[in-house]
Amino acid sequence: MSQNKMLLKRDIKEKKELVNIEMDRFLPRKDEYPKQIHKAIRHTLFAGGKRLRPYLLIHSYLLFADNVKSILPVAGAIEMLHTYTLIHDDLPEIDNDDYRRGKLSCHVVYGSDMALLAGDALLVGAFEAINSSDIEARLKLQLIKEFGEEMGHNGLIAGQMADIISEGKKANEKTLNYIHANKTARLINLPIRFGCLLGNANEKDMLTMRKFGEKIGLAFQIMDDILDIEGDSEELGKTTGKDDQANKMTYPAVYGLEKSHQMAENLISEARKKLEKFGEKGIYLDLLANFILTRKY
Ligand code: IPE
Ligand code: IPE
Ligand code: MG
Ligand code: MG
Ligand code: MG
Repeated sequence: MSQNKMLLKRDIKEKKELVNIEMDRFLPRKDEYPKQIHKAIRHTLFAGGKRLRPYLLIHSYLLFADNVKSILPVAGAIEMLHTYTLIHDDLPEIDNDDYRRGKLSCHVVYGSDMALLAGDALLVGAFEAINSSDIEARLKLQLIKEFGEEMGHNGLIAGQMADIISEGKKANEKTLNYIHANKTARLINLPIRFGCLLGNANEKDMLTMRKFGEKIGLAFQIMDDILDIEGDSEELGKTTGKDDQANKMTYPAVYGLEKSHQMAENLISEARKKLEKFGEKGIYLDLLANFILTRKY
């Protein structure tokens, strides 16, 4: 393994532990009444997961500030919200996926009723987690407002809606980009924006980071589409071949595999250029951008 890869791996592990401890502290114990819901939440939340979104938050923040501890509740909130999207995305009524993060999906183990509620609890809990942080009241309100806007009916949920209603439809670039930008890129961009806001970044840097986020966000979902074809189920921790089966509107379905790879590569190299102005401080974000392209899980 190259030195950079090792550096990234070690740092991801370290940040993942911080976020896990924070979420564990925030959530009710598994044996608290009514047990079933807390078990269901923890089943998927702590099954694994790359913790990529909290990682983006932490390192975007670190470009401008240094007290990571103060932003951990927000990092936990982002991961809780992301996990809610996964639990609901796997439900029989949506993607009907039996495996997630290398384990049976939440609804397979606990039933769709519990999985729905576990997702709901994580979504609402995410707002509570932001509110529980020690950040300035004005900033807290702004984060909560943006969180609602980005993840709501005009944001992530709209993307999921478009994903579902486009199944089996004739592919078109506009809809495809709408789906990817909303269902995935928004939740990649949001922690980057939050990191900038919490770190008190200036408008110019915030704009640079937004461009970075949009590019890696789209590249991330293109690679997810590609991995659904080229990836290994065991390594990914989820079943492959599902997009084709469900006739999903994906990048490989619209552009083919080779062009999709090329597009993801171009996006990542453009994104990495955005980081140049931050010099050494941007190293981990740069390594992460590269990881998005080369990841196998
Ligand atoms: C999966 O996200 C859902 C998509 C937006 C493609 P991740 O690949 O980040 O999933 P985890 O958190 O590592 O399990
Ligand atoms: C997931 O997209 C997007 C959200 C969960 C919001 P996918 O449906 O492609 O994600 P996977 O492949 O199931 O992880
Ligand atoms: Mg889906
Ligand atoms: Mg899915
Ligand atoms: Mg997918």
